[in-house]
Amino acid sequence: MRVDRFLSNLPRFNRQQVRLLLVGRRVRIDGQTITDPHAPVREFSRVEVDGDVLQAGRPARYFMLHKPPGCVSATRDPQHRTVLDLLDEPDKDDLHIAGRLDFNTTGLMLITNDGSWSRRLTQPQTKLPKVYYVETEQPLTAEYAPTFAKGLYFGFEDLTTQPAQLTLLGPKSARLSIVEGRYHQVKRMFGHFNNKVLRLHRESMGPLVLDSDLEPGCYRALGPEEICLV
Ligand code: URA
Repeated sequence: MRVDRFLSNLPRFNRQQVRLLLVGRRVRIDGQTITDPHAPVREFSRVEVDGDVLQAGRPARYFMLHKPPGCVSATRDPQHRTVLDLLDEPDKDDLHIAGRLDFNTTGLMLITNDGSWSRRLTQPQTKLPKVYYVETEQPLTAEYAPTFAKGLYFGFEDLTTQPAQLTLLGPKSARLSIVEGRYHQVKRMFGHFNNKVLRLHRESMGPLVLDSDLEPGCYRALGPEEICLV
């Protein structure tokens, strides 16, 4: 059903009020602000007006997964195993990944059906640090940290990356904290120095840290106290 019909069918709003609610950007469907009166409301859509929930939608679900190497961060893939294949859960079509990882990157992957939660985690504006353990082919030098802290120009997107913190751990290993998730961002940052990333592992996203005892390929549901941290 169209959102304008859905709202004007409720006793509390007439058509004129519904128009004003939409123009005033006060209506959200599944966490996204809606201004289009034709936007669809489905059986399991969550509908909010000024933060009041008018239709609850599906119960929200949140999982932490330890992504193994050789696995695609997609909901479907014709060739390879996907991270969703690792989940033994019903209604997997409803779930999405908050912040993809490359095929051979390992570590923390968050999976949910709550779009506004995953947007908060991944939007650069939220500035939530994503922390990676990195191993490189060539030795790391003192130039890397100040260059990453200043930001690197990415020609394809025509943007400069936000300041990133690099901590050297060994001659060819480091911990890198970034607040964005641009396409192949970490590999491109080290690529600036013609240095290939040989191992990449995400340790944390904002306040959520991969459990040290969660084996690669395993997952668990997040608790309410973890969900509300984001
Ligand atoms: N940056 C990359 O280059 N790859 C990843 O998988 C994650 C961040």
